[in-house]
Amino acid sequence: MADARRPLISGNWKMNHNHFEAIQAVQKLAYVLNPADHDVVDVSVHPPFTDIRSVQTVIESDQMRLILGAQHCHFEEKGAFTGEVSPTMLAKLNVALVIVGHSERREVFGETDEEARRKVAAVLSNGMTPIFCCGETQEERVAGGTDDKVSGQVRAGLAGLSPQQVAGLVIAYEPIWAIGTGLTATPEDAQAACRVLRGVVADGWGRATADSVRIQYGGSVKPVNAPDMMMQPDIDGLLVGGASLDPNEFARIVAYHRLIG
Ligand code: PGA
Repeated sequence: MADARRPLISGNWKMNHNHFEAIQAVQKLAYVLNPADHDVVDVSVHPPFTDIRSVQTVIESDQMRLILGAQHCHFEEKGAFTGEVSPTMLAKLNVALVIVGHSERREVFGETDEEARRKVAAVLSNGMTPIFCCGETQEERVAGGTDDKVSGQVRAGLAGLSPQQVAGLVIAYEPIWAIGTGLTATPEDAQAACRVLRGVVADGWGRATADSVRIQYGGSVKPVNAPDMMMQPDIDGLLVGGASLDPNEFARIVAYHRLIG
């Protein structure tokens, strides 16, 4: 991994932890993380909306070096969108990173490429950084369609952005068949897909942009497979679901760098 790209390990809590549990989880995480980890790795947590204010308060009052993230947002600033949360509201809570286009949003809630594109733009215009997700299904993989699927998602989701905007983004490659299943892509397969994605960025926005954009792998990341993933040249971080709910396990993932030197 190029030195310029600071590793980012993100914990996507999905629909887990009420706000009391969230406070406990983040306090425990701050306790079990080694302070030295923060010197080499960025660490973000992405609680459900109802927890964000509580987690923000704990992070800020205890001056934790954790980055506050969200899992999703709408693309409009405000209006008649029952049940939705706007990027402006998240920015007001000092949210820095917003996951956009997670496969569960796409597959379970029908989010389209166009919606994901509008969300990326809205997150950026509110001064936050999108973690833009892409990934293929098992069927697409078996049919040899991985590269086309993820390339298409990235081209569609980042359409219209400037090289400077894309350079600051995070892209997460998350094969859908590996999410929550215990099946992990091999480090070589994950590297191959992330390399393709960096190539898509290079073709669309230039080599310098591609060298700056951070690419995460996600899908059944555990302490045992994190170091091998992070040793891959085009993998700059990890998007962790299930294993991020246990602060000890998540901290062991963050500590990957001590195993690879
Ligand atoms: P998982 O989820 O680590 O539980 O597989 C990853 C994700 O969906 O971001």
